[in-house]
This record gives sequence, C-alpha cells and structure tokens, in this order.
Amino acid sequence: MAEPPSPRTVLVTGAAHGIGRAICLGFAAEGDQVVVNDLDEAKTAETVEAVRAAGGTAIGIGADIGVRAQVEAMFARAEAELGTVGVVVNNAAWYEFINPSQQTVESFERNFNVDVTAMFHTMKAALPGMQRLGGGVIVSIASLNAYVTIPQNAAYSAAKAAVVALTRGFALELGPMGIRVCSVSPGFTATPVVQVYLDALTPERRKEELGAYDERMPLRRLGRPEEIANAVVFLASSKASFITGTDLLVDGGMYCLNKAFSYNP
Ligand SMILES: NC(=O)c1ccc[n+]([C@@H]2O[C@H](COP(=O)([O-])OP(=O)(O)OC[C@H]3O[C@@H](n4cnc5c(N)ncnc54)[C@H](O)[C@@H]3O)[C@@H](O)[C@H]2O)c1
Repeated sequence: MAEPPSPRTVLVTGAAHGIGRAICLGFAAEGDQVVVNDLDEAKTAETVEAVRAAGGTAIGIGADIGVRAQVEAMFARAEAELGTVGVVVNNAAWYEFINPSQQTVESFERNFNVDVTAMFHTMKAALPGMQRLGGGVIVSIASLNAYVTIPQNAAYSAAKAAVVALTRGFALELGPMGIRVCSVSPGFTATPVVQVYLDALTPERRKEELGAYDERMPLRRLGRPEEIANAVVFLASSKASFITGTDLLVDGGMYCLNKAFSYNP
C-alpha cells in the first residue's frame, strides 16, 4: 500500500488556532505542504504565517466544511496551488454546551453537520486524488467525550462517537485502495482559548472545575496541542503503515479515572 509521495499536501480543517494550528506546524516540520482551512480568515492567516515563519509551505482557504460545494471548491484550489491532497485531517468542530432539553434542532444539526457530515464531504472530495496517488491517509479528531460524557455535552459527545464509528466504516471500504483512516481522541487540552478560561478562574473555582485533572488523573495535567498533533502526524506517517480504523486516545490517562469514586489514598 502506497503512502502519498513526499512532500505531501496535507489539508487540515478548522486550523485557525489551537489543536488545528499545532497539527499544521507538526506536518510542516516533517516537510509537508499544508492547506489551512477555517471560517475565521484572520486567524487562518496567522496559522499560514506561523507555518511560513517555521520554514514551511502553506496556503489558507476559508471554506465552510459543512457545505459540499465549498469543500469541493477547496480541494480543487488546493490541488491547483499545492498538488493533490494526500492527507486530510478533519479537525474542525462546532458545538454548543447546553442541556439537550434546551437545545434547538438548528444547534443539534449544526453540531452533526460540522463534526460528522463534513467528514463525508472531505472523504468524497479527497477520494479521486488519493486514488490517483495510489494511497492516502484521513485522520479525524474525535474526543474523549466519544467514550464518556459530561453534562451539557450530549450532541457533542454523540457527534464525536459518530466520528469514531465513521472512521471504522471508511477504513473498511478504503483500505483495499491503500487509504488508511484513523481518528485521535484528545482529552482536555490547554489550547490558548482554554488557557484564557483557566487563567480567569479563582483558585477555589479551578479546584472545583479541574480537581480531577490536577490531582487525580494519571499524568496530573492537561494536554498540550502539540501532543495531539504528534499523534496525528504519527498516524499519517509510514510508521503507522499497518494502522487503520483505529481511534487513538491522547488523554493523559483520563479515561482510566472513575471521577465518581472518591477513594484517593
Ligand atoms: N481543546 C480540547 O480540550 C479538545 C478536547 C477534545 C477534542 N477536541 C477537538 O479537537 C479539535 C480542535 O479543537 P480546538 O479546541 O483546538 O478548537 P475549537 O474546537 O475551538 O475550534 C475548531 C475550529 O473549527 C472551526 N470551524 C467551525 N465550524 C467550521 C466550519 N463550518 N468550517 C470550517 N471551520 C469551522 C472554528 O472556526 C475553529 O477555529 C475539535 O475537533 C475539538 O472538538 C478538543
């Protein structure tokens, strides 16, 4: 099974900041060319600049990945400017943290459209190019919430569980074409946005919100965006050549912890 030729063209959705930006920088450090997608044009330009400042090649494309025609136009432009896309990273997400009984159907559907249906759009748009290349890799960002949830997260958690399930389904069909399909499930990760939120908490509130992370979870801290990016870059590399249909939890061991059980010797 062929890996895409080097330098690969890697398209990362929702990459204006946070984990997506770290993924772009991770691929650029491997010598890959990066297509940075997001709705936020100003921050997309910042990610493109960060990749170029690190010596890499990047272009920014401001497409809405929930709209099929915009996804197709994005792949056509990416191919025209940087060559056929060999690696797709579905990183974009949209969600509203709200109790299901209060959530509108528009909010619920937008959550699934951006997190799940968009995976279908990017797969369809990437497939002809990957078949021409004789191989490719799709990595989607799910979440620890695909496995265990928290209040006000029903739609988000269900969408992330669908990301894991769709990954397995795509892997079955695309494997014989030389295309590997995986997902990565981050635990709570200290992106700049999360960090601003944490820094605004009083020590008492921080203990209430994060006690389990700071004091009880196995690695005793939140994740860093680069640590999620490292897992994505690995899964997209030839070192992962026999891995497909797999979800890789990158959560500092949080999944192992039963928060409801307070025994802590
Ligand atoms: N940060 C965490 O703690 C954490 C934990 C688990 C999983 N994740 C997942 O990791 C990924 C990145 O998370 P993050 O916290 O870095 O960023 P985020 O979730 O704040 O942002 C995702 C990006 O997607 C973009 N986006 C939303 N709708 C879009 C659309 N229709 N088209 C194009 N772009 C769109 C947004 O503009 C934003 O820049 C997401 O899939 C998220 O669900 C994050």
